[in-house]
Amino acid sequence: MRNIDAFNHVRGESVYLDDIAERQGTLHAWVFGSQVAHGKILSLDTSAAENMPGVYRILTAADIPGENQIGGIIADEPLLAEGEVHFWGQPVAIVLAETEAQAQEAAHKIVLEVEKLPVIIDPREAQKVGSLIMQPRTFHLGDPETGFAECEYIFEGVAENGGQEHLYIETQGAYAWPKETGSIYVASSTQGPTAVQRHTAHVLGIGMSRIEVDVTRLGGGFGGKEDQATPWAVMACLGAFLTKRPVKLVLHRMEDMRMTGKRHPYSSDFKIGLDKDFKIKAYEVTFYQNAGAAADLSPAVMERTLFHATNSYFIPNVRATAYSCKTNLPPNTAFRGFGGPQGMFVIESAIAFAAEKLGVAASVIQKANLLKEGDEFPYGQHTEGCEAENCWQTAESRYNLEQLREEVNAFNRENTLLKKGMALMPICFGISFTKTAMNQARALVHIYTDGSVGVSTGAVEMGQAVNTKMLQVAAQVLGINPNRIRIETTNTTRVANTSPSAASATADLNGKAVQMACENLLERLKAHIAIQLNLEGNAAIEIQEEQVLVNGKTVDLPWEKLVFSAYWSRLSLSENAHYATPDIHFNPEKEKGYPFAYHVYGTAIFTVTVDCLRGTYDFDSVKIAHDFGSSMNTNVDLGQIEGGLVQGIGWMTLEELIFNQEGRLLSNALSTYKVPDIYSVPKEVEVHFMDTPGSPRAIFGSKAVGEPPLMYGIGAFFALRNAIKAFRPEAEPAFVAPMTPEKVLLNLYPEFEAA
Ligand code: MTE
Ligand code: MOS
Repeated sequence: MRNIDAFNHVRGESVYLDDIAERQGTLHAWVFGSQVAHGKILSLDTSAAENMPGVYRILTAADIPGENQIGGIIADEPLLAEGEVHFWGQPVAIVLAETEAQAQEAAHKIVLEVEKLPVIIDPREAQKVGSLIMQPRTFHLGDPETGFAECEYIFEGVAENGGQEHLYIETQGAYAWPKETGSIYVASSTQGPTAVQRHTAHVLGIGMSRIEVDVTRLGGGFGGKEDQATPWAVMACLGAFLTKRPVKLVLHRMEDMRMTGKRHPYSSDFKIGLDKDFKIKAYEVTFYQNAGAAADLSPAVMERTLFHATNSYFIPNVRATAYSCKTNLPPNTAFRGFGGPQGMFVIESAIAFAAEKLGVAASVIQKANLLKEGDEFPYGQHTEGCEAENCWQTAESRYNLEQLREEVNAFNRENTLLKKGMALMPICFGISFTKTAMNQARALVHIYTDGSVGVSTGAVEMGQAVNTKMLQVAAQVLGINPNRIRIETTNTTRVANTSPSAASATADLNGKAVQMACENLLERLKAHIAIQLNLEGNAAIEIQEEQVLVNGKTVDLPWEKLVFSAYWSRLSLSENAHYATPDIHFNPEKEKGYPFAYHVYGTAIFTVTVDCLRGTYDFDSVKIAHDFGSSMNTNVDLGQIEGGLVQGIGWMTLEELIFNQEGRLLSNALSTYKVPDIYSVPKEVEVHFMDTPGSPRAIFGSKAVGEPPLMYGIGAFFALRNAIKAFRPEAEPAFVAPMTPEKVLLNLYPEFEAA
């Protein structure tokens, strides 16, 4: 089935936030942010701005009727700065004017006087002075001391990764208006409608029942709208609440890039120990997460870094420690992979480093240590249905790894200024919110008397085609034509207390709830049919292609007639179902448990060609064997693999966030922040759909696919590193991502650096 949004998208008919028809009397908001990354607020003068043309009102912290607080995990983040500012761009005031241009113009007249305080942008520096978001955490397995004592080889090093701008095509925004009842309606471009509802209620000092959040679709979220859509929606609601007029707030690209948090940069120390057969016996790692100026989702992201610290390898003795370091950057947040990629980059660096020192290919060490069935992760869960070796071997044989390797070597022998590099990247990603309680979802399904169906869930459509999957579930369970079914907007008055659409678990959680609701409706309809046809029980009844079958034979009761007669028999044609993932649990005191419903595996093979005069490069191919379970939509899932892969390659190669020492983002536009374009995607991307058994906890056995492929992108870094070493064998490029063309060049010609 094709993505149900494909038609609207291509025709430009899909409605995004900025496409909502403007209501009469709408005020436009512009957010005034701090121009200093850290300091004491001495004074805030909005009087000149208030007198600018078109300005209706300017809101500051003093106007907040409830609590000035939007922290999700830790209450450490004001909606509008009060007393101090902690990052460049931190919202201080909101200008409401008749037009957006007037609001923007007026914002320039706001005068904020700040006494500057020292700015920290480096996580290790923050850790040294005790500037932490929370207590550090450590995951343990076995006994690292004994493990290292038994090792033949021990290597220690440092790995660093940069952040990543989400660059959703649709910037952050919200449109709020007062409802007649004194409540507020808000359309928000958010992955977390309930977070918007909860924080708005809190800031306004009213009940959540007075806030209706509605989401049609997002022009991308990628984690950037899991928590960080909230402030803008709360601001729009605050404006609407105080002025009783509709308020629209949509960030411009540069404001969005400067004011919002990104993927977390990490700086990490590793120590890896191997025996003479290259089995990794011990691994110790310390992560310094650059959290930015407030907690946001950093504690949860840090936790997932620990969960994925050993990627898809079994290591019997592990100590992994993580510090969430408070700096003066915008609070960093969720981004596809949610801390997992950062953890995996370090273990891959450690393996590459060991391989370099031992004079073998990294793949030799990788392959020797892949997870096997029943192996224990440092968090106490054991693998079940482990596909690590199967994926690796499938990639190896299907894509002729040996031949590929020979071709690369032959190319490198024949060329002096062009060099190829190869790398393999296995992945293992746990599916479920690591906060067990969040693994729940609800669905509300109505069958209307004409036989058409409306489905509401807590799932947010952000391009990942979750609506298409929900529709497939309903159509399949009810046995009807998908054309009859409409997937409604995500609305807090229809489906309440939702978890954000995140953790790749949206289709599983909401899909299971849709499945349950539809199964309940089906049971009710079957009972009705049994009565109508004088049957004993309903075991022999099925509905297929809108026809009722009894013992496989069609009876004259088409869907529409069936629904109508059920209605006239006074049966409820609506159903609300609740799903909570069974079996999972985690004890954060012991750092042990069974946090994941299942794991997703895969292996990618990268080849890249580096132009050793220019430092530029092209990825020749990426060949992937991926564990989909039984994919319920191969078009959609292929799109997720390709998109995630390219986003991961971008993070590892081109995308470089540059903050100056004052904590100001310099790369705040697409001219200075490079993302992969059509020219930088791999020339060839091959994805093999492994027909793996899936998991009963995955919807229809179709494994979650949203985040895992991003981590294939890590292979890009190591392929480049190998190409550099093909040109200059003594090179030992630092494990510092991204590997931009400039960095490649400096690694090829280290004398340039000195010059
Ligand atoms: N794909 C598109 N097109 N747009 C997005 O914003 N977000 C990613 C991934 N794929 C995203 C996407 C992230 S961060 C997650 S967690 C999952 O989709 C969320 O959706 P799912 O749970 O339905 O996989
Ligand atoms: Mo995705 S980072 O869990 O929104």
